[in-house]
Amino acid sequence: MNHLLLYCRPGFEKECAAEARELCEQNGIYGYCKLEENSGYALFVSHQPDGARLAVEQLDFDQLIFARQWVVCEALIKDIDTDDRIGSLTGTVEQLPVCCELVVEPADTTEGREMQRFCNSFGSAFSQSLRKKGLLDKRAPNRLHIFALSGSEFYVGYAPVDNSAPWPMGIMRLKFPNQAPSRSTLKLEEAWHWFIPQSQWHQYISSGKRAVDLGAAPGGWTWQLVNQNMFVTAIDNGPMAESLMESGQVKHLTEDAFTYEPQKRFDWMVCDIVDKPARVIILMTSWLVNGWCRETIFNLKLPMKQRYPEVRSCLNYLQEELDKVGLKASVAAKHLYHDREEITVHVRLLDYHG
Ligand SMILES: C[S@@+](CC[C@H](N)C(=O)[O-])C[C@H]1O[C@@H](n2cnc3c(N)ncnc32)[C@H](O)[C@@H]1O
Repeated sequence: MNHLLLYCRPGFEKECAAEARELCEQNGIYGYCKLEENSGYALFVSHQPDGARLAVEQLDFDQLIFARQWVVCEALIKDIDTDDRIGSLTGTVEQLPVCCELVVEPADTTEGREMQRFCNSFGSAFSQSLRKKGLLDKRAPNRLHIFALSGSEFYVGYAPVDNSAPWPMGIMRLKFPNQAPSRSTLKLEEAWHWFIPQSQWHQYISSGKRAVDLGAAPGGWTWQLVNQNMFVTAIDNGPMAESLMESGQVKHLTEDAFTYEPQKRFDWMVCDIVDKPARVIILMTSWLVNGWCRETIFNLKLPMKQRYPEVRSCLNYLQEELDKVGLKASVAAKHLYHDREEITVHVRLLDYHG
């Protein structure tokens, strides 16, 4: 199978395709990209007949910043018999490895969202039929994906359960906490879910930890930290929400985050400042290199053009500076569902003694 289908936020198809192609090529899998702007997906088509399968076996899905999901498939199946979609697609499914479950998904576009109901009902009818035929087995390591462009055009393929996004459409749906002072709060919550396995939460996102929030007002991210019973230093010239200050867990400093220097080390530094990515990455790197925090989550606002090269250049700078001083760290970045013109980065210093 030589098509690697990648879901992304509409408008980011170029970045998604460029990144997938670069990663595949670094691993000796060569091919070309196909995309349509604002479609919510891109394709990497390998010259090798099994290039897409090799990609999901050799690459780590978490390395991809812009892809919300990836699916190994063949070319688009068009003009199927709309009176018998199940009959028309069963033959294709039979060619795939047996999968544990089926998800039928639209693109994250206006037209796609209008197809959600169709996807749900077609998905449950097709799942039943496949189960009866023994083509779905709960223990299988892959998930069957049908990406519906319309009622008669489908990509049919699979993704490894342990090397792909677990959520339908690759989107983590979170409920907005009513007490939080801003919608931005969901960015930090989603980031934690993406970057930190639930089994590690008690170790890293836990009661009593000390955190600093750069560019904190009105306090959506601080609210998340307080909600985990952390003690937070909030840096911002703007006002913090009264309700947060009443918690007694927040110290608000009206200082410039670019010149502020902490007296003590923090477990966490988070930063949601809207500024040039090149400027923000220098600030973030200095915090890590100085050992002022063990772990950080921050945003890099994307420029209008050259978005992917800018992201790469920022992440390369960070890695080079850490290498120069011999600091080992895990670094991951993702274009989250709650991110718009920005990506979110997570860095944890390993062997840190704070
Ligand atoms: C996008 S908002 C942060 C929203 C916040 N994360 C939340 O969830 O409510 C960016 C904030 O960064 C602050 N900011 C911008 N430049 C700053 C600087 N140099 N030092 C401190 N704060 C700064 C702004 O005042 C603004 O409140």
